Amino acid sequence: MGKELDKMAKFGINTRLAHGGYDPRDYHGFVNPPIVHASTVLFPDAETMASHKQKYGYATHGTPTTDALCQAIDELEGSFGTLLVPSGLAAVTIPLLAFLSPGDHLLMVDSVYGNTRYFCNTMLKRLGIEVEYYDPLIGADIEKLIRPNTTVVFTESPGSNTFEIQDIPAIVEKAHAAGAIVMMDNTWATPLYLKPLDFGVDISIHAATKYPSGHSDILMGTISANEKCFKRLDDAYTAIGLCVAGDDAYDVLRGLRTMKLRLDRHGENALEVARWIEKQPGVLEVLHPALESHAGHALWKRDFTGAAGVFSIVIDGGTPQARAFLNALDIFGLGYSWGGYASLALQVNLSDRVLTGKKYAGALIRLQIGLEDTKDLIADLEKALSAAKAVQ
Ligand SMILES: Cc1ncc(COP(=O)(O)O)c(C=O)c1O
Repeated sequence: MGKELDKMAKFGINTRLAHGGYDPRDYHGFVNPPIVHASTVLFPDAETMASHKQKYGYATHGTPTTDALCQAIDELEGSFGTLLVPSGLAAVTIPLLAFLSPGDHLLMVDSVYGNTRYFCNTMLKRLGIEVEYYDPLIGADIEKLIRPNTTVVFTESPGSNTFEIQDIPAIVEKAHAAGAIVMMDNTWATPLYLKPLDFGVDISIHAATKYPSGHSDILMGTISANEKCFKRLDDAYTAIGLCVAGDDAYDVLRGLRTMKLRLDRHGENALEVARWIEKQPGVLEVLHPALESHAGHALWKRDFTGAAGVFSIVIDGGTPQARAFLNALDIFGLGYSWGGYASLALQVNLSDRVLTGKKYAGALIRLQIGLEDTKDLIADLEKALSAAKAVQ
């Protein structure tokens, strides 16, 4: 792991994406790695079998195909080790299960992805873990919430659907001073626009379902940890028995090769649409951290090197106006899982938020901007805004 990382570290991001994780000379010169389909692995003799020293012994613990993807992700994240899990949600739940014990206190950001909240409010509470939600804008004041039994501070920046930017270095400093570890769901930025471990975060979580896959056809999560946290994480992963299929690992690795090009285009398209929609009558607010008008813009500029393609708008009115808006869209699909090449929209429901749900003056709509031509997307949105306005 270490040697390969050192070798790649000097290259630019596109070079690392194009070549990470696999050297064609390792497999007869074929540009892409073979897909290993496996459960059983054979040993040459009984002694080797008993020694547990053969590199591969059982396919739940990895294959050359999954290892190629893990190594490519390690190169991007700067992590000690990466684990692959069957969904982005599993990439959230496994580290939480690995590091929390009954009686522990978890500080969870209030703008977290909704299914993470569901996991905390159901399974973690049942396991005797105290879950406390904190304001995403808390910064160094997180110190005031940390207790002797706080073991994990969980961050997600920007926040799901509402796009608050967290002061990650300030939170890391206070958490580490108190002996807690920090996890970050970095699905929006990806390691291309922010590398959590460079900011002191211990575990970087990514729904690879989104931009690494990029085509709305794969579910996968990656969990990348520093040396301090990797062993405990890996032990929990092994105990639970999670793994991913070789075909899916192969497809995500293929997605990585073009990810910077796609992500940059998602970002450019999204910013163009955001700048346009900000000026339209009937749009009360645009929640996009790369806009100068966004409350978290300065922090975003300080820590991120780019903006992805998902943001939200607040339109005048309530659910009837939001429904009319969504129903008038032709190019934008109505769907949840973003990060694919096609544009999507949905109405956001913040009713489960405990701190940050009530401050919007109209209906909140999340847009994922795809790789289509922006003039077509803008025309579609113009039609949708007119339909919303027509509702009395
Ligand atoms: C921020 C964030 N984290 C995690 C996930 C979960 O990913 P998956 O759909 O692969 O479970 C999502 C999905 O939308 C997400 O938006």
